[in-house]
Order: sequence, then structure tokens, then C-alpha cells
Amino acid sequence: MSKKFDPVEVRKDFPIFSKVMRGNSGLVYLDSGATSQKPREVLDAEREFYEKNNAAVHRGSHLLAEEASAAYEGARQKVASFIGANVDDVIFTKSATESLNAIAYSLGNSKSGSRYEIKSGDRIVLSEMEHHANLIPWQQLAKRTGAELAWFDVDSNGRLDLSNASELINSRTKIVALTHQSNVLGTINPVSEIAAIAHKVGALFVLDGCQSVPHFPVNVQSLGIDFLAFSGHKAVGPTGVGVLWAKAEHLAGMEPFLFGGSMIESVTMTNATWAPAPRKFEAGVPNMAQAVGLGAAVDYLQKLGMANVAAHDEELTGYALEKFSALSGVRIIGPKDLKDRGAVISFVVDGIHPHDVGQVLDQYGVAVRTGHHCAWPLMKKFGITGTTRASFYLYNDFQDIDILIDSIDRAQKYFKV
Ligand code: ALA
Repeated sequence: MSKKFDPVEVRKDFPIFSKVMRGNSGLVYLDSGATSQKPREVLDAEREFYEKNNAAVHRGSHLLAEEASAAYEGARQKVASFIGANVDDVIFTKSATESLNAIAYSLGNSKSGSRYEIKSGDRIVLSEMEHHANLIPWQQLAKRTGAELAWFDVDSNGRLDLSNASELINSRTKIVALTHQSNVLGTINPVSEIAAIAHKVGALFVLDGCQSVPHFPVNVQSLGIDFLAFSGHKAVGPTGVGVLWAKAEHLAGMEPFLFGGSMIESVTMTNATWAPAPRKFEAGVPNMAQAVGLGAAVDYLQKLGMANVAAHDEELTGYALEKFSALSGVRIIGPKDLKDRGAVISFVVDGIHPHDVGQVLDQYGVAVRTGHHCAWPLMKKFGITGTTRASFYLYNDFQDIDILIDSIDRAQKYFKV
């Protein structure tokens, strides 16, 4: 393993940290759960693609088309080795949301009698901690097909209640779709355990890796999952690129959901057949520069070492949990211990609306997310309308957390609570 990095040195790679924020303060960026900042390598890779290689991939016979295709396919190779996948099983989408929708639409397009067909009476199992991207596509699929939705409850500590897992995932279950790490609670779910239960009844397991892939090593083979979705922009990569990984047999057996150029094998005026994956699922001229930027992001993360990123996250989270426990009138929504927990802390300050907390923090250069975090059912479960959420990443340090804690104290004083 490479030596652990210094976040102060890391920050120098990210131009945005030279910005002067409100109150003449530096940027304390604690909103990486929503989107991460981007290192110079990623910005340069995108710019260089446009300046030196730009052409439509997989089409032209000229030098630029060749270089663009090599850069795009090179990025796919980098992403594949980042998650322990075969290169042809990695699909570039525009976002994790699109990846999850792609799975739901593909299943919905399945031919009658196919292994992938979802029909009335089938069951789709989710959890109460899903963000909307891994809830609404399944709700819609259930409405279209007559399948029923069932879900794991979340307990008061913010952990999944697995006590009824075997009843919930029954013989009618076709899909189990679960987040790896909650974007609100920080809870890391026992993915392999639940995937094994799903496989026992022949169900497919879909993992939403939005909050996990950027933060700790994720290997699709050792997790024993069928599908993985994640976005580039939370992993120091550009916006406009997401990843869908699936086992080769599923990509071969499933129907595409976007139709058009590049995804075909042959076409007549009345019919078409599909190219093999990954092209089958990448209709049209793809998001080439963004994919190349994601390749640079993966290089950047691997240079730091994902085990180091995870260790750094854990150190910060442990420190923050300790500091939060000493605050009065502040309640953490989610696990209060470090076990199976990521670098996200959602909290409620008694007597102050989360948006007001966020606004006071902003006066000191502290950027956090406030509101329902696209996880409305989870807010309902905890009887709240929203939280303030601090999420940490590789460019944060203990001082950022000290400033956060100080700023919460100032908010309490300002609102006299
Ligand atoms: N799901 C993202 C978040 O948690 C957008 O902020």
C-alpha cells in the first residue's frame, strides 16, 4: 500500500481551494456527498481531449477518430480495473441515475418468458434508506409491470433491519436494489450477505455505489453482485459521466433501452440487431471527454490508493463523531459509532432549521448540504423534514472539522438556542 497522503498537499491539486469564500475565509468543502471537487489532472484531461484528440469515437477513419477512440476505450479500461471488472462489462452513461434507470428500463423491455422479464406478482426489494435515484426507477418499473415493491426498514440507529431478510426476499423476488452506503446516514450495508440471500431465490442484486466507489475499494467480483451503478462527479471526476457495470451474461441477455447509432450489428428498414456489450448499451456519440476525465480521476484516486482514501475518511469521521458527541442540542441522524460507517454525518440542531444552519456555516466558508438529500422516505422515518449534512473526502482535514464544529456553535449562539 502506498504511504498515506497529506490532505493539505492534496488540496494543492484542486484549483477551487484557492477561492476566497464569504467572510474572507478559505473554502471548507464538506459537501462531497453531493459532488466532489476536481483535481487539475481531471480538468487537464478533458481540456486536452478537446484540444488534441476530439472526434466522434468508433466512426471516422482519420487520425483524430483513432486517437479519440483510444482515449475513450483507455478510460473504460481504467474504470474496469478500478472496480475489478472485465472491460467489456463497463458501460458509460451520463450519471448513476441514468445507470439505474437503464437497468430498470432494460428489464422492463424484456421479452415475455425471458429470465429478465418483470411481471405482475413479481417482487422488487429496496430499502428505506435509498436516495430517489435508486427508488423512483423501481417504483416506475413496478407501476408499469404490476410488480410489487417491498423494502428493508431502517432502525433508529440508522442500520438496516435484516431480521426479516429471508421473508422479504422470497421466491417471487426478481430484483434486490440497495445502496452500498447511505448518502444521509453514512451506514455501509452488508452487501455480500444480502446479495447471497437474493441469489438463493434467483433474484438479481443491484448495487448503488454512488457513495461507496469514490470512498473505499469496491470490487464487483468479490462483492458477488449483478449490477453496479456509480457516478464520476462524486469520485473527483467530471459531471456528465456515470458507470453501469453488469455481469457479462446479463449484458448479453438483456434488452437495450436506448436505440440508435453505434449500438447495432445490422439494420434494415424494418429491423435491427444489436452489437455486443458495451456498445449495445451506448447508443449515439457518447460523452467522450467526460469519460476520459473519469479515467484521469481513477488514475488520481489510485495514485493516492483507495485503501488510504478509506483510512483517511475513517480518521476524519472518528474525529468528527467525537466532536459532535460533545455538542449539546445537536443530534446525529445515523450510526454514532465508526463500525460500517462512511464519511457522512447528518445532524439536526435543536431549534434551528437546517437551511438556517447551512446559511450560518456559509458565513464561515463552510459548504454543507441541507434539506431532505433526495431521500424523502428516510426523513419521514426519522420524523424530520431535513438535516444538515457534512460529508468528508480526501482534501479535508481535522481543521475543517474544527471549523465546522465552531460554526455550529456560532449558529446556536446566533439563534439563541
Ligand atoms: N445524492 C446526492 C447527495 O446525496 C446528490 O447529495
